[in-house]
Amino acid sequence: MSTGNLKDKIALITGASRGMGKAISIAVARSGARVILVARNKEKLQQVKEEINQLNGESDIIRADFSKEDDVNRLFDLVESRYGRLDVLVNNAAVASKGSVEDVSMDEFDYMMNVNLRNVFLSCKRAVKLMKKNKSGYIINISSVSGIKAYEKQGAYGISKHGVMGLTKSFAVDLQSKNIRVSAIMPGSVNTDMMRNSGRTDIDFTKVMVPEDIANTVLYLLSLWETNAAVDEIYIRRKTKKPF
Ligand SMILES: NC(=O)c1ccc[n+]([C@@H]2O[C@H](COP(=O)([O-])OP(=O)(O)OC[C@H]3O[C@@H](n4cnc5c(N)ncnc54)[C@H](OP(=O)(O)O)[C@@H]3O)[C@@H](O)[C@H]2O)c1
Repeated sequence: MSTGNLKDKIALITGASRGMGKAISIAVARSGARVILVARNKEKLQQVKEEINQLNGESDIIRADFSKEDDVNRLFDLVESRYGRLDVLVNNAAVASKGSVEDVSMDEFDYMMNVNLRNVFLSCKRAVKLMKKNKSGYIINISSVSGIKAYEKQGAYGISKHGVMGLTKSFAVDLQSKNIRVSAIMPGSVNTDMMRNSGRTDIDFTKVMVPEDIANTVLYLLSLWETNAAVDEIYIRRKTKKPF
């Protein structure tokens, strides 16, 4: 196991059961942090924990449903009582939707806003309280290219991801003086369940990014932590997509 730059750090990754969250969790554990794996599916979280065990990494599982405020509060209560600190938070869990904004029901809108935005805001607030105790912390929000551009037939997803960008900027400026860094990653298409279930037929799935590309981007941001350099946001696309 590496004793990389995250040794002795506690890192919480949401949506750790599959896709990007799984890859980020393994990469962050490989860099030496103890990783708190968060999602709803316990069996899948257990598989990720076993993969981390095989690398001699350290992780714990806490189940939480990010559509429920009580679950998010219970999660952070547990983190506080078990570890007494939090160094890294990666807000990665999210849900996608299809169809035009005209077709989005208010129930679907509320559900998406709860998972993708409202409880990400709560998660940041609860994390900041713990990070301030140590006068240090790093929050990385997995937004999307849909957080800076509008695409057809993404329902309320783009709206929620634009919110994540606003939230990232507000936390970043308010917490800078407390030595807490807040950054966003805006990926384009990545080969995960979310992408595969999107119904997109215009994309060659052999040419899109893989979850490890985003995990490496998270590690890059974290590698700057103790330096004088700061990166606010990273837009990362598949190499065959038109630049800029
Ligand atoms: N894939 C892409 O092309 C793409 C592009 C840009 C941005 N993104 C963003 O990247 C992040 C990761 O996406 P992905 O592609 O890896 O998605 P994914 O394969 O669908 O995985 C989503 C993760 O979020 C968790 N999750 C979903 N609803 C949840 C809830 N209510 N409570 C707790 N956890 C929940 C899932 O775990 P459980 O089901 O076990 O709860 C799973 O671990 C998301 O923020 C997504 O918006 C994705």
